[in-house]
Amino acid sequence: MGFPGVRMRRLRRTPWLRETLRETRVSPRRLFLPVFLDPTIPTPAPISSLPGHSRYPPSALPEIARRAEKAELGGLLLFGRPREKTREGEGAWDPEGAVPQALRMLVGKHSLTLVADVCLCAYTLSGHCGIGEGARIDNDATLRALASTAVAYAKAGADWVAPSAMADGQVGALRRALDGEGLEDTAILAYALKSASAFYEPFREAEDSAPQTGDRKHYQMDYSNRREGLREMELDAAEGADVLMVKPGLTQLDLLARAREEFHHPLAVYNVSGEYAMVKAAVQKGWITEDRIVPEILTAFRRAGADLIVTYHALEAAESGWLG
Ligand code: PBG
Repeated sequence: MGFPGVRMRRLRRTPWLRETLRETRVSPRRLFLPVFLDPTIPTPAPISSLPGHSRYPPSALPEIARRAEKAELGGLLLFGRPREKTREGEGAWDPEGAVPQALRMLVGKHSLTLVADVCLCAYTLSGHCGIGEGARIDNDATLRALASTAVAYAKAGADWVAPSAMADGQVGALRRALDGEGLEDTAILAYALKSASAFYEPFREAEDSAPQTGDRKHYQMDYSNRREGLREMELDAAEGADVLMVKPGLTQLDLLARAREEFHHPLAVYNVSGEYAMVKAAVQKGWITEDRIVPEILTAFRRAGADLIVTYHALEAAESGWLG
C-alpha cells in the first residue's frame, strides 16, 4: 500500500514519538577528545585554526581529564611535541617526553580510556611521519621508531596506542613490540584507512608538523580509492588491530559504511581538524547554528557505523547537552 493509505508523517507528529522511534543516538561515551601537549610552554597557548582548543603544558592534563570525566566522554587522544625536533624524531620515544609525562599523572585516576597517537611528524625536522632523507622515508627504520614510541607510551600508562604514520606493517610491529615487553593488554587503535587530505591543515598548525619538503601522498592513501581503503583495513585487521579507524570522516562516510559491513571490529572515525574548523568558522560568522549542526554531524558518523568518534567537538557537545 502507498499514499493515501500510508502517511509517513503520522509517526513524526510529536517530539516524544520522534524520540521513541529514533534509530541512532550519540552518547558522550562514544566521543574521544584530541588534546595537544607542548612541553615548551608554561601556560595554554590557543590554536587559532582550532577555536576553543589550545596547546597545553603536560601539567594541565589532569584538569582537562577531570572535565572530560565529568562530561562522561569515552576518552582522550593525546598528541605531543618535543622540546627540540631532530632528524630521527627521538623525542617521540623519550620516556620524559610530554606524552609519557602527562600519562603518568593520569593513570588509574580517571574513568577514561587514554589513547596515545604514535607518529613522528611532530618530532622530526623533516615534518614527515617517518625517518629518512627529506621526503624519502625508510619504512622499516620507521617501524622500529614507532614500536619504541608505542612501548614508551604504553609503559607510561596509555590504554591504547594509535599508530598514524601509515608505515606498512606498523600495526604488526607495534603488537610484537608491546607483547615482547609484557604489554599484551595495551590495545591498538589503527589509523587503518588514512587518506592524504587538505582537512588536516589546522592540525598541522597545532602540531607544527607540516612536511618541510614534498607531501604525504607517498604514504597516506589517495582519497579517490575505495578498494585500496578496504585493503588497508584488511591488512591492519590481520596484523592484530583492535579497533579500525577511518580518517578523515565526513568525506569518507561511504567507506565507513562499507567497513561496517566488512569487519566485525569496533570502528572509529576521526572528525578531523579541517572539518571542525569549517564548522567553527561558519558559526562565528553566524551562518550556521552550532547546537544543530554538531549533533547532525556526529549522528551521521554513528549512522554510518562508527562505534567511537574522535572529535574536537567532544567536550562542548557533551557538556552543553546538544546530544539530547
Ligand atoms: C599525524 C596525524 C595527523 C592527524 C592525526 N595524526 C596529521 C597528518 O597526518 O598530517 C590529523 C588530525 C586532524 O587533522 O585533526 N600523522
